[in-house]
Amino acid sequence: MMHGLPRRSLVGAVDIGTSKVCCFIARPDEHGPKIVGIGHQLSRGVRNGVIVDLEQASQSVITAIHAAEEMAGELLQSVVVNLSGGFHASRIVQSEINLNGREVGDSDLKRVLNLGHHLKEVPGREVIHAIPVGFSIDGSRGIRDPRGMSGVKLAVNMHAVAADSAVLRNVATCLGRCHLDVEAFVASPYAAGLSALVEDDTRIGVTLIDMGGGTTTVSVFYDGNLVFADSIPIGGNHVTNDIVRGLSTPLVEAERMKTLQGCCISSSTDEREMIAVPQIGDDEDTPSNRVPKSYLVGIIAPRLEETFDMVRDRLDRSGFDKLSGRRVVLTGGACQLSGVRELAALILDKQVSIGTPRGIAGLAPATAGPAFATSAGLVHFAFSERAETPRSLRNPVGLPDWRVFGLWRWLRENI
Ligand SMILES: Nc1ncnc2c1ncn2[C@@H]1O[C@H](COP(=O)(O)OP(=O)(O)OP(=O)(O)O)[C@@H](O)[C@H]1O
Ligand SMILES: [Mg+2]
Repeated sequence: MMHGLPRRSLVGAVDIGTSKVCCFIARPDEHGPKIVGIGHQLSRGVRNGVIVDLEQASQSVITAIHAAEEMAGELLQSVVVNLSGGFHASRIVQSEINLNGREVGDSDLKRVLNLGHHLKEVPGREVIHAIPVGFSIDGSRGIRDPRGMSGVKLAVNMHAVAADSAVLRNVATCLGRCHLDVEAFVASPYAAGLSALVEDDTRIGVTLIDMGGGTTTVSVFYDGNLVFADSIPIGGNHVTNDIVRGLSTPLVEAERMKTLQGCCISSSTDEREMIAVPQIGDDEDTPSNRVPKSYLVGIIAPRLEETFDMVRDRLDRSGFDKLSGRRVVLTGGACQLSGVRELAALILDKQVSIGTPRGIAGLAPATAGPAFATSAGLVHFAFSERAETPRSLRNPVGLPDWRVFGLWRWLRENI
């Protein structure tokens, strides 16, 4: 999904997740970005994709960044960072100016977009993405480049994603403690889409679901761009905790059982297949309890069903279900659970596949799976023209993504 030639020589991306923190350092290569430094680390101090303990989170982030910097032999000054939680369902906003019958010129375009950039948010929220999805003149819609056309009113629809200011501040403070500036905040499912989706899909409409440890985030891409994003504070860790409670087994055992034997679709052999379930408080010599696998499936399945039901509801409510296409791509560590693809296909009634980082060289086998799609997507974002204008807490609105209109070059020179 990388377009145009990368103009930057080194980028840093930090994915602060509920389960892991990952730092990628990349350089442009002939064919796209090449990873030259990787650091990843168990995450601490993060709940449902939001930092809840700055001290602990900073420690995890510092460790991951140091490892990546050491491998790259370079020091970072700023990074692109994701938000898995703390952002709100995106919405379409419109701004409008009077043309009074004139032809649309560059200055009109600048004016209407600027109005759109300074969207009013409710107090305590800031816009992190503002992407134009179409211009209209006197009500005739779907205009990609209005220049040269004339009319009475020029309007632009922009797709806006807003996040809680406190969440943004905490991420910025956390990175500040690592002596890094935030170049841009990127909603996780946007980043994951940039790395895991193919262009044909994003053109005709596709839904991406990033299934993490503490969040499940959703995005819809259409006509080459993001048109919807949302986040649900439920993830793979909830499944593990359900197993801990349901089978009275320690957390590490629950995690092991989930990844090795877990499944979210029942099968006819589940009653006969017995699994060992060490009990909380057992010592090593105590023989493990044995239960049919159907118990485990009976705990896992409802949580995943609930998650996909919520995803379906959010898509229905968004009004973007029609654009969301026939295909769903799943990313994130939690999509690796056995049966997830089938269950998603059943509940969402779409074709489902698993997405991994694409178009990026130098990933180690351990970082090339679906859990790293968001991290890799942050690198794509950083190299694209999307990141040309740094978005920071001081200027959180930033410029939207012009690429789809073929206007970005003009805008870069003129705004
Ligand atoms: N093979 C597997 N089968 C099932 N679940 C798995 C597997 N491997 C990892 N997971 C689950 O994936 C989750 C972690 O995924 P990921 O690394 O994408 O999360 P994260 O990005 O840190 O979290 P978030 O994006 O929600 O903040 C954990 O809940 C883990 O149990
Ligand atoms: Mg994640």
